[in-house]
Amino acid sequence: MAEESPYLWWKNGVIYQIYPRSFQDTNGDGIGDLEGVIQRLDYLTATLNVDAIWLSPFYPSPMADFGYDVSNYTDVDAMFGDLAVFDRLVTRAHQRNLQVIIDFVPNHTSDQHPWFIESRQSLSNPKRDWYVWRSPKADGTASNNWLSNFGGSAWKLDEKTGQYYLHSFLKEQPDLNWRNPAVKEAMLDAIRFWLKRGVDGFRLDVAHYIMKDPDLRDNPLIPHPEKVVFKAMGDYDSLIHLYDKGHPDVHAVFRELRHILDEYSLERPRFSVGENHVFDWEKWCSYYGINLDELHMPFNFALIGLPWNLGAMRRVVDSLEGALPTGAWPNYVLGNHDEPRLGTRYGAENIRLAVMLLLTLRGTPTIYYGEELGMVNVHIPAEKEQDPWGKRVPGPGRDPCRTPMQWDSTAIAGFSTAREENLWLPLPSDYRSTNVQSELADPHSVLNLYRKLLKFRKATPALNAGSYRALDGFPEDSFVFIRQFGNKKILVVLNSAKDPLNCWMTLPGKGRVAVSTGLNREGELVTLDELVVAGKEALIIEMD
Ligand code: NOJ
Repeated sequence: MAEESPYLWWKNGVIYQIYPRSFQDTNGDGIGDLEGVIQRLDYLTATLNVDAIWLSPFYPSPMADFGYDVSNYTDVDAMFGDLAVFDRLVTRAHQRNLQVIIDFVPNHTSDQHPWFIESRQSLSNPKRDWYVWRSPKADGTASNNWLSNFGGSAWKLDEKTGQYYLHSFLKEQPDLNWRNPAVKEAMLDAIRFWLKRGVDGFRLDVAHYIMKDPDLRDNPLIPHPEKVVFKAMGDYDSLIHLYDKGHPDVHAVFRELRHILDEYSLERPRFSVGENHVFDWEKWCSYYGINLDELHMPFNFALIGLPWNLGAMRRVVDSLEGALPTGAWPNYVLGNHDEPRLGTRYGAENIRLAVMLLLTLRGTPTIYYGEELGMVNVHIPAEKEQDPWGKRVPGPGRDPCRTPMQWDSTAIAGFSTAREENLWLPLPSDYRSTNVQSELADPHSVLNLYRKLLKFRKATPALNAGSYRALDGFPEDSFVFIRQFGNKKILVVLNSAKDPLNCWMTLPGKGRVAVSTGLNREGELVTLDELVVAGKEALIIEMD
């Protein structure tokens, strides 16, 4: 009997990240909202065919870090709508078989959260221990050398009570003390609040940060400060972040969280994905849990950090495949609201190959909104800069990848009815050609490539569930692999060289091109040992 492929949305499906500020504005304030997401649900399901959306934060927030500074975990900021709109969004999404993942920010609140406002009142306030407070050293400086991800010390002196509080990010984002059981309970209750409202999953912001060294020891100085593992973070890169995040006690919390998700999963599958910028596979894999009883998966950022080099990418994929615990499911990310857009990182000429890679590897892909149009970073004039991190470190920060979605060629790209100068971030000059409407009309557009790939991936168990095996003997600027489910084999050949790749493959037999990056070879019958893949082309071939 043929193997059946059960289609579990978070495993076999595709996740689409929405940055609500930039997706669709319905009230003309130049900032996107949840009603806007509702209006675009047909695009997500009928046009794109994705399985789940991840909504970046929409909670009440002073927006010091654009919503990653939450002042109420169980409500919606008026800027984005209210709980009734959120409920309608979930209902309408579920009617279309689209799952809803929300961002949850466990490590820190806003400094305007009532918990922190209370906590900073006095040393004896009942909420004092909800945050991480320490007295100064004898010389008045902070009790250890920890640094903020956003530059400078991770400690801020509170004049009124004479102690420092910890903030791994902005000083407006004080870290919660998860070692206090009351904090943990309050946060798990917030998770339950959203599960009861029908939410299908959580993206956990800097998930492993919640547990730090209980003694708050100094981090060691990095011996090779010039070696950057992922992206340059300024002075933050001068330390080995041994003690300020990822203490092993985090596993017990993840197990508790998983237990809650498993309870709700009896009704229908619920899901968690951690934002874990960890580049040591053993440690990264540990977040699945020894018994796969922690996060459903930690986000895999290993490819985002690489330059465009298919050989290097293949080695990363192979190393992950080799490191994954039995039963753990991989995932891949090529863009999000913190990173330069993939077309900017890899070059516009490599966008189609990158897309083909993302949507053919074994593991859940996450697409960042606008990626499907080939959107690249947008130049932000200095006076329009918004990102607090961008303002503190050299370089353009994160605004260039957070600009409004480009829906059509009308004024403001169909994003908003606001005047152009009132958009929270500007549109690029090319939005009249790079937008959903014009790309739908162009049979060879990047958007139509995404649509074709998404449809084919969903219909093809070898791609959405099958095994992965890379083939050796190809040049460094190519990547060739086989995905297989039962006896169905799919061959993926990516050639990023300018010149054609002559495969002269030892693979016997023939196949049929199912998808080509140029959308111009579909249906072509090929003899595998004579296969020629054009320069900057990738093919998905159904093998006979
Ligand atoms: C990671 C988020 O992705 C980023 O946007 C945010 O600034 C930090 N965490 C702090 O919450």
